[in-house]
Amino acid sequence: MSSPEPLLLLEGVAKEYGTAAGPLRILEGLSLRVGRGESLAIVGPSGSGKSTLLQILGTLDHATSGRVELAGQNLSALDDFQLAAVRNRQIGFIFQAHHLLPQCTVLENILVPTLASGGTASAEAQQRALRLLTRVGLQERLGHRPAQLSGGERQRVAVVRALINQPQLLLADEPTGALDHASAVNLGQLLVELNREEGVTLIVVTHSAELAGKMQRILRLEGGRLMEAK
Ligand SMILES: Nc1ncnc2c1ncn2[C@@H]1O[C@H](COP(=O)(O)OP(=O)(O)O)[C@@H](O)[C@H]1O
Ligand SMILES: [Mg+2]
Repeated sequence: MSSPEPLLLLEGVAKEYGTAAGPLRILEGLSLRVGRGESLAIVGPSGSGKSTLLQILGTLDHATSGRVELAGQNLSALDDFQLAAVRNRQIGFIFQAHHLLPQCTVLENILVPTLASGGTASAEAQQRALRLLTRVGLQERLGHRPAQLSGGERQRVAVVRALINQPQLLLADEPTGALDHASAVNLGQLLVELNREEGVTLIVVTHSAELAGKMQRILRLEGGRLMEAK
């Protein structure tokens, strides 16, 4: 019996940047299979290419060579328009900085990714926003602006925004890097719970051994190569 189709499949993924001193090779032919609903941490030294890899997985950057498949679709066969659609519908992002719009309320920020055609948010999107905001304990902050929230609250808003379009894949680059310890633990726990509850595949880049340890798998990126570390 063959194993079920993975959500994410990488084969021989390499990445080079052109520099004045010649090509700089960051990723050396990575292969990886990530199943639907899995949770995975990527750890490794600063500058090892973790963000570069996450950007490639998130269709924000291209591999120099190799193959990346998301849900059976070969990403390098898609044009920019199709990639933007994949990004909007199938992938959620969380970064170290929240990137919320300062002039918009919590609820407005969360609904932004649902406004693909420029209209108003559907009743369904609004219901999902309210459910998720309640789930992360922010039901009393709907009308707040980002500046009126704590760092941990802002990251929880960013998590809800990342999940609003029901993505299959949630990518988080150092999501707790700017938080105090208590808020970081809280956010890590929330990510693990949402991975299970929403069935979203979770890939977290982190320097925190504590956060990495909460994931089902840990991969270490070093010297351009990925190694299973758990
Ligand atoms: N646009 C770019 N052009 C040239 N080099 C880059 C570019 N982006 C990243 N790099 C280099 O790639 C390496 C990996 O960067 P990055 O993926 O940000 O590492 P990490 O997230 O693990 O700290 C670094 O040496 C960085 O300087
Ligand atoms: Mg990085």
